[in-house]
Amino acid sequence: MRTDSPQTIFRKDYTPPSYLVETVELGFDLDPARTIVANRITLRHNPDSPSAGKGGADLVLHGEDIELVALRMNGVALNPGQYILGTNTLTIKKAPLNVVLEIETICVPENNTTLSGLYVSNGSFYTQCEAEGFRRITYFPDRPDVMAKYTVMLRADKEKYPVLLSNGNLVEEGDLDDGRHYAKWEDPFKKPSYLFALVAAKLVCQEEKFKLADGRDVLLQVWVEEGNLDKTDYAMQSLKNSIRWDEERWGLELDLDRFMIVAVGDFNMGAMENKGLNIFNTKFVLANPATATDVDYAGIEAVVGHEYFHNWTGNRVTCRDWFQLSLKEGLTVFRDQEFSADMIGTASGRAVTRIDQVRTLRQAQFPEDSGPMAHPVRPDSFVEINNFYTVTVYEKGAEVVRMYQTLLGREGFRKGMDLYFQRHDGQAVTCDDFRAAMESANGRDLTQFERWYSQAGTPILTAKGEYDADARRYVLTLAQRCPPTPGQPEKQPFHIPVAVGLLGPLGADLPLNQAGDTTVVLELTEAEQTFTFDGIGAVPVPSLLRDFSAPVILEYPYSDEDLLHLFRHDSDPVNRWEAGQRLAMSRLLKLTAAAQRGEELELDYTFIAAQRALLLDDTLDAAFREQALILPSESVIADQMEVVDPHAIHTARQFMRRTIASVLRTELLNAYAANQITGPYSPDAVSAGKRGLKNLALAYLLAGKDGHAVNMARRQFEEATNMTDRAAALTALIHSGADASEQLQAFYDQFKGEALVVDKWFAMQASAPTTDVAHVRELMGHPAFTLKTPNRARSLLFSFANANPSQFHAHDGSGYEFWAEHVIKLDALNPQVASRFARSMDRWRRYPPALQEHMRRALEKVAGATKLSNDVMEVVSKALAN
Ligand code: TRP
Ligand code: ZN
Repeated sequence: MRTDSPQTIFRKDYTPPSYLVETVELGFDLDPARTIVANRITLRHNPDSPSAGKGGADLVLHGEDIELVALRMNGVALNPGQYILGTNTLTIKKAPLNVVLEIETICVPENNTTLSGLYVSNGSFYTQCEAEGFRRITYFPDRPDVMAKYTVMLRADKEKYPVLLSNGNLVEEGDLDDGRHYAKWEDPFKKPSYLFALVAAKLVCQEEKFKLADGRDVLLQVWVEEGNLDKTDYAMQSLKNSIRWDEERWGLELDLDRFMIVAVGDFNMGAMENKGLNIFNTKFVLANPATATDVDYAGIEAVVGHEYFHNWTGNRVTCRDWFQLSLKEGLTVFRDQEFSADMIGTASGRAVTRIDQVRTLRQAQFPEDSGPMAHPVRPDSFVEINNFYTVTVYEKGAEVVRMYQTLLGREGFRKGMDLYFQRHDGQAVTCDDFRAAMESANGRDLTQFERWYSQAGTPILTAKGEYDADARRYVLTLAQRCPPTPGQPEKQPFHIPVAVGLLGPLGADLPLNQAGDTTVVLELTEAEQTFTFDGIGAVPVPSLLRDFSAPVILEYPYSDEDLLHLFRHDSDPVNRWEAGQRLAMSRLLKLTAAAQRGEELELDYTFIAAQRALLLDDTLDAAFREQALILPSESVIADQMEVVDPHAIHTARQFMRRTIASVLRTELLNAYAANQITGPYSPDAVSAGKRGLKNLALAYLLAGKDGHAVNMARRQFEEATNMTDRAAALTALIHSGADASEQLQAFYDQFKGEALVVDKWFAMQASAPTTDVAHVRELMGHPAFTLKTPNRARSLLFSFANANPSQFHAHDGSGYEFWAEHVIKLDALNPQVASRFARSMDRWRRYPPALQEHMRRALEKVAGATKLSNDVMEVVSKALAN
């Protein structure tokens, strides 16, 4: 049981470590029930630390859930009187300035269900040390500003664990007695403890020699369980593309002779960038056409890239403290986004990736920014750091990095990056250091820009345009405000880059200056500013915030005519899509209101006609047409409402889909036929776009309750030659309410040996609007279900709570009871996963009083549970706070 109450940690309290670590020598005797860790660290007092006292300083090491069996300092065994063993610390008072510590501890990997530290998954050993997992392996100053060189000796049974891996280079291996063997690894680079990793497992690998730009040959390996070697090609290809891209776009080269990726089925997050030994959730490695969808392939490319790019943005230059997390995560997400966009290459392909990013922000980050867990990109405080691996730190952080590039230009931004590496290679630094590099390299003052790091909340940008025909002048007034967030009642103006274009009456871009530019980036720094455009011959329609140039909410009094004009003609594809979303949203909100009043629902033909024209426009990529035809999700609609009515929203959106389907039946059938692909499967963007549009058409036709469509879907399900088409057909069937019991069974029987496909099987059922709480409970009883594997728990529980709002928010509160029960159950196994699930209730105050009452009770039930982790406690107590 927890003895101390959870402590809040503040950024302002940062102090440099009292001791620095020079070298770490780790010895592991691996045994699932009793692993012995021998740790020899060389430390020296940090002259920059304020702790220097007379007669030495206090040496504090972290430790958690490990048993101390021996401790020696400078060759002499310490007895318990010479150190203090706290709950999670080991302190040696007034230690000498130079210290060699030898620490022996024991841990029990097979009982470690938290998946943090050293744990067992399917009989093999893996580690996860970010953020504070290393202290669950050995006593250590477990903070990212303590960087050291590591040597690692692994010993384990040779038959059960034939593969022994750690960071860096393999320097020695051989056999021991009793059927055991060993491997010694050395990492030539200094690193923080969170980048330590080991794997001792029964695995096989796909490997390849690869030539770097400087001519060096490196060894690339992708390690997986036996039977999965037919699913490693795309990860390997993505790794090679990542290495090439980092060289070409940023001049950054791989610094090791060997780079390994290991896939593991039990993993809390997507993947981890351990130096030279990236450990991945299987979801972001394993793919072949039969088991993985286009979305899965895109995820693999992005995550392989992301982890690889961390080698420079995260590992070579790391974070001073965890408040700086976005320094590495925001920057690395930006890099992986650019990588994925460059891999597609075409302008419209890039736009589709950008639209996806905007969607994620609206779907997840804006709600976070206006909820009880709102925090700045660089938080000021936290209870549990694991709760701050958020869409704000990652995705909004990436937007902040993107804004530097928008303000400084691509070249200026590159100069800033070069200077950042020049100044800070091998260091643990801050977001301010990054900003300073951008400033110095470009001779610009970015003081105000810091507010993007310090102020939480989504700014609201309002725009007003006035046209003076006589003066041929257009005056644009931009204003900004930002709503209060917890702890930040008042906000100062942000430095916002607003990319603007003006469309003439025929839809063409008007030249905006002497140079003839058709897009300019305005810099809004005040609460309100006006910008003047001369030589404008006719009243224009403004295209604002092109390419989503800042993570803000834009308010402009667009008429339907304006939006239709932009939807048809905007040269900026992101704003073209955006105009369509605005047209749809205004109707969805009206329909929702009508549904609440029990009125008959009606959809205007203007909107459908615009959708029709877009669907028929063969000059547009299928991928873009698909994006433009996807209606705002139920949760994005909810975010627009003062008081959220999930049931009315569902009714309204379903009505809209049904109406579009019946009016555009012929066009949708044609789109379905025209976007069939023959020949072998390829996950490239063009093919994926066609499949996407085709499958969207199918889903629409099914939503239209067309009997013919049911047969089409069943046939596609049976004849599909890839998972994208098979899963899309099955999902569309289930979600339309058609009888798909036979197909569900067949799908399960065919893929029951593929864990990632079984996850899909659970997820598509959990998110079906026909699946209620009782059905979810029934699915939990399925032999394939387990709460212990995060992917499986997410596939059922998270899909239900986050992707099935009309059932989760059942009037009787049964969805919330289910939630409370399982937050508590999950918490006993894995606090990180439980805490993420707990966040499904963040926005509870936005619901009608009757639902709120049920939600409050569920939250209080969790808050009052015994033995609650700090992770979940932080989330529910912030949700309940005023
Ligand atoms: N640094 C990892 C990434 O973004 C994130 C991560 C992986 C992580 N595993 C984790 C964060 C466990 C916290 C806990 O690539
Ligand atoms: Zn990352």
